[in-house]
Amino acid sequence: SGVITLDPGYKNSGSCKSEITFLDGELGILRYRGYSIEELAEKSHFLEVSYLIIFGELPSVERLEQFENDIRKFTLVSEEMKIILDGFPRTAHPMGVLSALTSALTAFNPKSVDADNEKDMYDAVCKTIAKFLVIATWTYRKSMGYPLNYYDNTIGYVENFMNLMFKLPTGPYTANPIIIDALDKLFILHADHEQNCSTSTVRMVGSSHAGLFASISAGVSALWGPLHGGANQAVLEMLEEIHATGGDADKYLAKAKDKNDPFRLMGFGHRVYKNFDPRAKIIKKAADEVLATLGVNDPILEIAKKLEVSALEDEYFKSRNLYPNVDFYSGIIYRALGIPTDMFTVLFAIGRLPGWIAQWKEMRENKEPIGRPRQIYTGYPLREYVKS
Ligand code: CMC
Repeated sequence: SGVITLDPGYKNSGSCKSEITFLDGELGILRYRGYSIEELAEKSHFLEVSYLIIFGELPSVERLEQFENDIRKFTLVSEEMKIILDGFPRTAHPMGVLSALTSALTAFNPKSVDADNEKDMYDAVCKTIAKFLVIATWTYRKSMGYPLNYYDNTIGYVENFMNLMFKLPTGPYTANPIIIDALDKLFILHADHEQNCSTSTVRMVGSSHAGLFASISAGVSALWGPLHGGANQAVLEMLEEIHATGGDADKYLAKAKDKNDPFRLMGFGHRVYKNFDPRAKIIKKAADEVLATLGVNDPILEIAKKLEVSALEDEYFKSRNLYPNVDFYSGIIYRALGIPTDMFTVLFAIGRLPGWIAQWKEMRENKEPIGRPRQIYTGYPLREYVKS
């Protein structure tokens, strides 16, 4: 035993050593494997960044092609998975369905559970990237009552996302390239964020040697919450509510500052960034560009800007270093791209997938011990049982 240090929320505890992502919250710096996210978002694309995050180096042209081919080998999802999907009510939240379907993949892909040699690990990585995208979009098709679409191996991963989501049997479908570019960038910006709540969950579950799909399913559940990935949906719902009730952003700012009101300004604040979230900066710029190019004039964006300016000037937010985070602007782009609000967090999950995989793989390769925090017991001392 020995003295137990209490650290609720692990604010000052490191859970592992990691080579994947560097984050400096004071300076607002984020890098994957040493490359700045600004540069990656501008010059790379999502599957290349996924490879970098998972395997540690940027792939050669041939290696990347091989990786993309290997992913294509696994893009079919078992028909039985559709039966499981069918059992959910159409009103179910897509994140709940996604978590369940991801866990169900374990049953259909038993080798990915152990992934204890290089070949099985590599296949598990490719399988996860391939199948997760398909089932993620199926949660939307299900909620709409539309027939399910299949992955098209002749087009790219992000194009496939749009096809899987929106293609109808009644006609051809070609996604707008502006939308593809914007989504690609958004996925890159979400790809990893070191030991956040969902990633720590993936590592924790995996530390018991539970399989990759089971660990990622737990990560999806952790991401769902409004203090984490669910914030992107919550931000948009908040902005819509402000708009619907007359556009008074300052009223909501006052509510957020009121300690007797549980309301928080969604999309503001971060456990680690005590400066601008570098992802928010890029996304804000991209939101402006995408809305201008698509000719979208969204009053919600104006409210977001008003809210941001007021909050940044406010003593409450300044003294607590509360800045807009990645979720503040991402919802506005998703909305402009025609993504339904309850799918926002699913998009976050698709983007975060390479990070979860990389962190799980690193944890297994480093032979990390099972995660098992201690506690300080504050309950009753020994009591005698008295029959009533
Ligand atoms: N609105 C109003 N007050 C806030 C907010 C907010 N959004 N965020 C933090 N505070 C206050 C909080 O009340 C506390 O005040 P005091 O010192 O007077 O008690 C102080 O700022 C520090 O906050 P904390 O809750 O101790 O900080 P934390 O590191 O535990 O929480 C957070 C971080 C992200 C959960 C929190 O800032 C929050 O709830 N933000 C809103 C939800 C959100 O946007 N989440 C997305 C996070 S970024 C991407 C992701 O992870 O998905």
